[in-house]
Amino acid sequence: MRRIAVRHSPVHGRGLFALTQISEGDRIIEYKGRRVSWESSEAVDHSHTFLFGLDNGQVVDGAQGGNSARWINHSCEPNAEVQEEEDRLFVTALRTIEAGTELSIDYGLQVDVRKTKALKKLYECRCRARACRGTMLQLRSGKS
Ligand SMILES: C[S@@+](CC[C@H](N)C(=O)[O-])C[C@H]1O[C@@H](n2cnc3c(N)ncnc32)[C@H](O)[C@@H]1O
Ligand SMILES: [Zn+2]
Repeated sequence: MRRIAVRHSPVHGRGLFALTQISEGDRIIEYKGRRVSWESSEAVDHSHTFLFGLDNGQVVDGAQGGNSARWINHSCEPNAEVQEEEDRLFVTALRTIEAGTELSIDYGLQVDVRKTKALKKLYECRCRARACRGTMLQLRSGKS
């Protein structure tokens, strides 16, 4: 039986949803896509990103040759995370996820420039979590 499906999301566009209960620690799906360098990914619209960095400096671009993992939305209180193993990325459950629940990860987006109000707005988060930080950007404590 299929465990996940792409559906319309109340957070943004399409999202990935659990069809059955998923246990904490379960590997849900591999995040697939074309491997490119950060430089060649720069032309991409980063406020609508499908990019995931690998420890080896490359980037997996889910928009090119990706699978349904590319539809996972961001949450500031995520129920899954992406783990890297031997240059591959796997979406893994952080807790028990009930059937019907949208899967989410914390994108923790990093940018080299100052995180101004305008930039945070560009990356505005609509995850609805109680602890929503308001942006998909990674924020360091008290700094912008
Ligand atoms: C990999 S796509 C996820 C699929 C997306 N929902 C779609 O239909 O294209 C990532 C993009 O979805 C949007 N997104 C994901 N999570 C979001 C959130 N919590 N709040 C606002 N936008 C979000 C952002 O535009 C982000 O760059
Ligand atoms: Zn949020």
